[in-house]
Amino acid sequence: MRRTIVAGNWKMNKTPSEAVKLVETLKPLVASDDVDVVFCVPAIDIVPVVEAVKGTNIKVGAENMYYEESGAYTGEISPAMLVDAGVEYVVLGHSERREYFKETDADINKKVLKALEHNLIPIMCCGESLEQREQGVTMDFIRQQVKIGLQNVPAEQAVKVVIAYEPIWAIGTGKTATTEQAQEVCGEIRKCIAEIYDDATAAAIRIQYGGSVNAKTAPDLFAQEDIDGGLVGGASLKEDFGSIVNYK
Ligand code: 13P
Repeated sequence: MRRTIVAGNWKMNKTPSEAVKLVETLKPLVASDDVDVVFCVPAIDIVPVVEAVKGTNIKVGAENMYYEESGAYTGEISPAMLVDAGVEYVVLGHSERREYFKETDADINKKVLKALEHNLIPIMCCGESLEQREQGVTMDFIRQQVKIGLQNVPAEQAVKVVIAYEPIWAIGTGKTATTEQAQEVCGEIRKCIAEIYDDATAAAIRIQYGGSVNAKTAPDLFAQEDIDGGLVGGASLKEDFGSIVNYK
């Protein structure tokens, strides 16, 4: 049985002091025995948030990471820095990083490999644009993202990876993919994993849906056969996030 994982992606929101306040508000609301709860926060918020979640079920994630160990990479953050700070998850290849910071599938693959080497759990994002959906190339595109993202990742490591399917047209638009659309793509992603690895790996890997998830849409989405939770943007900054975690 795959354990549901609900992660908040705070994006570029909340100063360190605001972050601690938000954690204090959400702490009692996101308590859960059945769901893995992760707050993926801006780099500068990591240290105070790790402190603020101590003694709770909340795990902390980063929103990005560089694939080198250390050195002359001004402005970047290494996996060892994240681990030392108490981070357990890292969002990799979010569509905003692909679009604004020109990250490629090959970059994301390097990051996935490096994160796993350091025992960080990658939340590897994929998702098509509206244009691609309309052209009918959604699955080809997503298969490519998944295949390149997981290149050279052995099966025993791949099972730890969380894949987040986030159609770009549904991010921050209030336009959630229908449960059918979301399930269809997440099901295809699982098939793709079975082709790369085997059925057991495909059955073990967790696949999230992301894109305008809210307290209303979460129950139906998360009940789908191949959807194992969500990556939540806007609604993770509000009390709503408690209802999303406790969607059942
Ligand atoms: P929204 O939930 O704000 O649409 O953002 C989704 C997302 O990009 C999470 O990574």
